[in-house]
Amino acid sequence: MGRLLFIRSIEGRILAGITMFVGMMILVGWVAINEEARMQSFVRQHTGRSVERGAELFASLCSECHGEEGYGQGDRAPGLNNPHLFGYDPVGLQTVAITTANRALVRFNQDLSNLLAEQTDAENPPSEERQNEILAAIAALEEQIAEQQAVIEAAVVERADILATLDTAVENGLFPLWDTVVDIETTGANEVEVFFNANGTRLAQVGWAGDLHGYVVTTLIHGRPGSANVYPNGTGMAAWSQTAGGPLRQDQIEDLANYILNWDKGGAWTAEDFIAVQQYGKPLADGSLPSEPPPPPAGDDVLGILARWQATEIVGSAVSGELLYDAEYGCTDCHRNGASAPDTVGTATRIRNERLTLPQFAGYTIEQYIVESITRPGDYVVDGYSSGLMPSNFGVRMTDQQLADIVAYLLTQE
Ligand code: HEC
Ligand code: HEC
Repeated sequence: MGRLLFIRSIEGRILAGITMFVGMMILVGWVAINEEARMQSFVRQHTGRSVERGAELFASLCSECHGEEGYGQGDRAPGLNNPHLFGYDPVGLQTVAITTANRALVRFNQDLSNLLAEQTDAENPPSEERQNEILAAIAALEEQIAEQQAVIEAAVVERADILATLDTAVENGLFPLWDTVVDIETTGANEVEVFFNANGTRLAQVGWAGDLHGYVVTTLIHGRPGSANVYPNGTGMAAWSQTAGGPLRQDQIEDLANYILNWDKGGAWTAEDFIAVQQYGKPLADGSLPSEPPPPPAGDDVLGILARWQATEIVGSAVSGELLYDAEYGCTDCHRNGASAPDTVGTATRIRNERLTLPQFAGYTIEQYIVESITRPGDYVVDGYSSGLMPSNFGVRMTDQQLADIVAYLLTQE
């Protein structure tokens, strides 16, 4: 046998083994690197094609109102190729600086009035030593207050300068209602800051908690009922999805969203971009924008649910779990004192010491058992209780998070 081997000595074979191993690793590494590049280029091409399809749809269906380049048209439709829509706030840095300085000022002024009160307290006059401490502290505070006031003044001037370069944009509706608060004398500086905090970006302005992709897709699906009243030169934003009686399939809506999101310039938007927009988004008609679509239900695929929790880092909260268990889903109605369903008290202990020792639950974790009990109550019926009593549709009524919260709560029931 030995003679048939190509490399005879042990050392030689080890060396050959190492060489082959290193060679393999280089090959694997090379494939991995190229696979990554290949995947990226695939994703790029895929998104690229989707953007192209979106561009065609936009030209034929949307540009008559939103403009060929997406800049919008006066009183007809808002600009979508629009820094404000993409969350770029031209005076955002100034607003943050002023808000932060204002907060510090509130604190310093409070400290200052406490010190002054102590200094002039007739019933309990401070010692001479304390008097000196107080004087020093007041001097330091006054300096800090002056610093913060300087920060605010500088930021207010900067903001005015920036807004002056954006005059045309402001006329076209950037910062709508700005003229109603522009008079700082009568409205007070605080309200001005509240205004800029609430209007700096389109999503803040309409109070949308989700991301821009969700905002665009939701708008396309449902349209904006009542928006024709707000934009009198057009017929308003229709519902485009087939699910809402419109002409577009979901994949076409995604293509359009990809095309629109493709306009994003990140941090590189300029004053020219602001000025190019012909019409900025206006405050919405009441109830025209649905809140974000509800998250999908947990379902009843037990292992799938557990895997998703891990992948998306869902962690249950026992506190909200208890609320859901007691009030929202009425679990307690049955699960009290053990008469019609196992008592809530002792659930975790019972599962650990009794259920999980049964042969059919070999290898189960306690979470798996609870999730299965809630989403597929028919799979195993606890001895002594009737089957079919526990409702079997909780999986479609709860989100992943709610289910995780309830599990967290039951785990506290020792
Ligand atoms: C008849 C004119 C008209 C057409 C055609 C139209 N829109 Fe609109 N669109 C509007 C109006 C008006 C609004 C503002 C709605 C509001 O303020 O609630 C709007 C709002 C939007 C918004 C939300 C912008 C924001 O700032 O809130 C998006 C995104 C949008 N349209 C995309 C599209 C796409 C994509 C198409 C083509 C499939 C399209 N629209 C076709 C009139 C139109
Ligand atoms: C209409 C009555 C009823 C309601 C409401 C109900 N259950 Fe149950 N549940 C039962 C019964 C009966 C059993 C025992 C029979 C079985 O295993 O299906 C049970 C079993 C369980 C078990 C297994 C307990 C064990 O010791 O093995 C869990 C966990 C559970 N339920 C959780 C819940 C949760 C969470 C809710 C609310 C979201 C809920 N149940 C609502 C009747 C109910």
